[in-house]
Amino acid sequence: MPKNELTIYLNGEFIPESQAKVSIYDRCFLYGDGIFEGITVWGGVPFRLDAHLKRMYKGLSYLKIENPLTDEEWEKAIMKVIRLNSMDKGYLRPQVSRGEGMLSTKWEPRVLRKAKPNVVIIPEEWLAYGEAMDKGFRAKVLSRPRTPSASIPAGVKHCNYLNTILGAIEVSACGLDIGIAVNLQGYVTEGTAYNIFIVKNGKLYTPPLTLDLLPGITREVIIEIARREGYQVSETVFDAFTMCTAEEVFFCSTVRLGGPVIEIDGRKIGDGKPGPITKKIRELLLEEMTREAEEFHQGLKK
Ligand SMILES: Cc1ncc(COP(=O)(O)O)c(C=O)c1O
Repeated sequence: MPKNELTIYLNGEFIPESQAKVSIYDRCFLYGDGIFEGITVWGGVPFRLDAHLKRMYKGLSYLKIENPLTDEEWEKAIMKVIRLNSMDKGYLRPQVSRGEGMLSTKWEPRVLRKAKPNVVIIPEEWLAYGEAMDKGFRAKVLSRPRTPSASIPAGVKHCNYLNTILGAIEVSACGLDIGIAVNLQGYVTEGTAYNIFIVKNGKLYTPPLTLDLLPGITREVIIEIARREGYQVSETVFDAFTMCTAEEVFFCSTVRLGGPVIEIDGRKIGDGKPGPITKKIRELLLEEMTREAEEFHQGLKK
């Protein structure tokens, strides 16, 4: 086994990454037919695990994929992956595919080669909270609208991210950092893999979940902590013009814990530097994560 290999959870076993293999008939490989999650590990604890599990369960249920583990089993497996990899801060990706199929989109368990889901939990020792977060990000409004929920419900965190990948290709081709998508009506929905907030007159705005966007866990936490701190937060629709003329714009996700956007399509946001409310929200988020991790460890000690 090569040095520094990560330990992966695969179908009930904890094995080195070089041995963690799934079949070429896996439905995720063949059709992107599965669900995944992305969970922040902070202070050795999965942040807001319950919310992530709930979102994953909803996706599995919608795709009619059997949830392979109980709450307790998920929690145990996730904590063991964290422990075996001595993770303090990082990212965890649980993923569940429908199982293994034939070269056909037929999905019913009776026609699959293996009707039991393939389940993995992959750790990654990385989180973006470094220099780039202080400097700010240059963005573009993507030419392709976000996949409408009428086609694929945006609340389902499924394993087909081609809309996002095409967005990422467009962003790289322009030498920029992030892409922000609008919907077919021209309203801002979300970033390629982030939710979006803007600041106007000191008030925070984020697109509502009724638009085509993933109900991000970080988004939810930011709404909660910003309101607790006394900021007004409104879930409301806005277009790219409103966003580009905002005082501040920032994006958030499990991996990007509140990143300032300093330019969109060559237009400076505010004075072209990370704004004070963005910085404050990020601080509050990190404080919340640290507080919850400490509470978790205190609970463990009892
Ligand atoms: C399309 C999309 N939107 C938003 C998010 C942010 O969600 P969360 O805060 O739960 O990571 C993600 C995260 O991967 C995403 O893929």
